[in-house]
Amino acid sequence: MLTKLLIGGEWRAGSSAMPVLDPATGETIAEVAAGTPADALEACDAAAEAQKSWAATAPRVRAEVLRACWQNLVDHADELAELITREHGKPLADAKGEVAYAAEFFRWNSEEAVRLHGSISTAPGGANKIIVQHPPVGVVLVVTPWNFPAAMITRKVAPALAAGNAVVIKPAEDTPLTALRVAELLQQAGVPDGVINVVPTADAASWFEAAVDHHAVRMVSFTGSTETGRKLLRRSADRVLKVGMELGGNAPFIVFDDADIDAAVEGAMVAKMRHSAQTCTAANRFFVQARVADEFTTKLSAAMAAIKVGNGFAEGVDCGPMINAAAVSKIDGLVQAATAGGATSALGGSAVDGPGFFYQPTVLADVTAGSAITGTEIFGPVAPVISFTDTDDMIANANDTEMGLAAYVYTSDIGRGLAVSERLESGMVGLNRGAMSDPAAPFGGMKQSGLGREGASEGIYEFCETQYIAADW
Ligand code: SIN
Repeated sequence: MLTKLLIGGEWRAGSSAMPVLDPATGETIAEVAAGTPADALEACDAAAEAQKSWAATAPRVRAEVLRACWQNLVDHADELAELITREHGKPLADAKGEVAYAAEFFRWNSEEAVRLHGSISTAPGGANKIIVQHPPVGVVLVVTPWNFPAAMITRKVAPALAAGNAVVIKPAEDTPLTALRVAELLQQAGVPDGVINVVPTADAASWFEAAVDHHAVRMVSFTGSTETGRKLLRRSADRVLKVGMELGGNAPFIVFDDADIDAAVEGAMVAKMRHSAQTCTAANRFFVQARVADEFTTKLSAAMAAIKVGNGFAEGVDCGPMINAAAVSKIDGLVQAATAGGATSALGGSAVDGPGFFYQPTVLADVTAGSAITGTEIFGPVAPVISFTDTDDMIANANDTEMGLAAYVYTSDIGRGLAVSERLESGMVGLNRGAMSDPAAPFGGMKQSGLGREGASEGIYEFCETQYIAADW
């Protein structure tokens, strides 16, 4: 297991170490070098130095390096998946899915690297030509979460590198092992020294505080909670840095009474439970039309009851542990407050005894819109069901949140589905689908769920400047 810092192509010991836990047992599985603010600054120096020559390579050269990165990640998929399950806890099958998803960002962006189009036009007055091109921003700070230890790194690093930037990565404290191994695989695939640096830390605030002021840093790309995103935004504003922010969600999952209820339950299980129910896109509030609310709740409870909770390495496990003890107590607090407020527990409703940090798959019926559990990102295997009769009221309730990342709509009337989708204040909508993540699609949120989009053809432009040259010839 790699446990050192990667700075300027060298693997360096840190001045102190931090433990990495297996959330399925609570035991320490590794001690990883804990980077200091000085390490973060050295990594920024190395990135600044390497970025110039990387940006000067031909797009085709960068494209081929990125393609080799995709191949190397795919070639090491089993090993990477084991590492993800070891430090995150998600079932091995989900971890394998994550590696394929993570690798795909490199293949997609290898194709985008040679299609970073600018434009040329004649000014309306005819006086000059307007040439527009997209140079890289420079050095990018990449700050990533623990829920997708590989994919949230590659979703940022692949387009950043495709555009000619260098990156300094601060992986989540809970999951640095995958980040370090991914970086090594990218190095082996031909990414030059210094273009990727990884500096895990146990003191994220001091790390960021130092790095954000480095003269070469021109962008902060973050995935994580809205609360932390706001802090990083405030601090980035001091240097007027470009930002990419993928923040929290509070996804409504809407089921109309003309929907195929079995298909809706199947989609609900994906939207709620993928990656052990710890995704920003997770269905957080189930709005179900009154006529089918009991049927949906009964069938959803049966599907949730069939979920096998346990160690992600064990055969047949569908849901691994929560990331830590604090996550379990936050989920439990929300569930207890909901039942105290009148919700009924159709299934589950409590934590699972340790070792490890597990929560029972839980379905809550008779939940009222506006209660704490519908206003908070649960990040756990809990499905609150709210019955509705009036579509306009339901849409108002679905939009009654500062979050706007993902939403889901199930109906057999595609016209109604599209009309409702358009009224949802959400960056992404799954229409008769329980998952929408795709490197070829723009991932991101409206309102306080974020700024910018990752993936698709616009993803690479987030890591670019726009330069206009007024030319007369
Ligand atoms: C996230 O939870 O932040 C990402 C989910 C995804 O990419 O599917």
